[in-house]
Amino acid sequence: MSDQAKIIYNDQTFEAPVVKGSEGELGLDISKLRGSTGLVTYDVAYKNTGATQSSITFIDGEKGILRHRGYSIEDLANNASFLEVAFLLLKGHLPNKKEYENYADLIRMHTLVNEDVKHVFQAFPNGSHPMGQLMTMMSMMSAFYPDSLNPHRIEEDFDMTITRLIAKTPTLVAMIQKKKMGHPLVYPKNNLEYVDNFLNMTFGQITQEYAVDPVLSSAMNKLLILHADHEQNCSASTVRIVGSSQSNLYASISAGIAALWGPSHGGANQRVLEMLEEIAKDGGNVQKFIDRAKDKNDPFRLMGFGHRVYKNFDPRARIIKKSADEVLGQLKVNDPILHLAKELEEKALADPYFAERKLFPNVDFYSGIIYRAMGFPVDMFTVLFALGRMPGWIAQWNEMRKAGQPIGRPRQIYTGEVHRPYPSWDERG
Ligand code: CMC
Repeated sequence: MSDQAKIIYNDQTFEAPVVKGSEGELGLDISKLRGSTGLVTYDVAYKNTGATQSSITFIDGEKGILRHRGYSIEDLANNASFLEVAFLLLKGHLPNKKEYENYADLIRMHTLVNEDVKHVFQAFPNGSHPMGQLMTMMSMMSAFYPDSLNPHRIEEDFDMTITRLIAKTPTLVAMIQKKKMGHPLVYPKNNLEYVDNFLNMTFGQITQEYAVDPVLSSAMNKLLILHADHEQNCSASTVRIVGSSQSNLYASISAGIAALWGPSHGGANQRVLEMLEEIAKDGGNVQKFIDRAKDKNDPFRLMGFGHRVYKNFDPRARIIKKSADEVLGQLKVNDPILHLAKELEEKALADPYFAERKLFPNVDFYSGIIYRAMGFPVDMFTVLFALGRMPGWIAQWNEMRKAGQPIGRPRQIYTGEVHRPYPSWDERG
């Protein structure tokens, strides 16, 4: 197989090296194309652009494969703890027992947030969206750790910022939920494991002992793992590009949270539930909503369906669907919304419109149903996605930083006015 490709333009031939990934993925290295031919590549929304080489996550969208550092998402979701997966993403290998215990202890030592953070929370109006709060709290962290602002600091300082982020994000997320409920904060209890500690801070009360339900704990652990990383998606690319200007990690993650908030990305999990509730309120006519999604004059889309990369079943959705059945069964929840979701999935999958476009349910289709059964308010769903995605964002940022990648800066094809003289007031009519 050739390791060069030729691009012929007028009388010029550009020989582009072919870059090969460890799973056989091929890419054209066009970094010198403009210098040789004057051409840039044109690829709106980067649908066919590899922005980096990366050794963190592998996806084969045609086959429905997702692996982190070589381990399948199925193996990780069924066997690992979220903290183990975070370690894997951040350090590149699964921890041995000693490494894991040390890591869990290190994270435990940093779960508290500064007491002054409470004052920032007080400023949010009641009812403000949890994603807006999380984004603000994340940027605010840079104010509490000014040492993190220096892009040339020593490696140990970077490690400490990463540790703080993994340790304190569950505390911040729980604070957002408590603010929403109008309940007093529950502080971290460091004898608990990572996920149980989060559930205790979220659902526990200061007035009484709270025993973490193992069913909830296992479901939460799985959901966090399923969201932990997804290679160069919109929010990860945002984190990388913001970080490429040597902006600090808190600011980069805050930008990632902003990107995740949108309904085309992580915000879809909230929209799926709202859509299912709307269908139920409208009398449960699933076909009507499928027809609307197919109508090109109607902006409505089936939320939780379709994916930029997966042109096969999203492997995360398969795992979540099974988990939703288990959790609802164990919690003895008979949710009519789940029945509607199943009917919608069956009808859409049988419809040629969705089959031809390879539109399958994605990770967000079922996650909301589990979150709802667990007792989370619907506008907290995307915040939970962000909590799970934290190690992935950090791993992507750190890979970019350690490779010394230059500032990210795409080109454009300008289509505006060509040069014209500056008119006087009279000439403007
Ligand atoms: N409902 C109806 N039609 C759809 C849908 C949908 N959910 N998704 C895509 N299509 C159609 C689209 O209209 C287009 O049709 P045509 O070829 O006739 O013009 C075709 O499928 C290709 O769609 P696209 O918009 O070019 O695909 P994309 O890769 O730009 O968008 C997407 C991917 C996820 C933004 C899109 O499928 C979508 O809006 N889905 C609903 C929102 C959603 O569930 N987002 C969560 C994504 S997974 C979680 C994450 O990792 O963020």
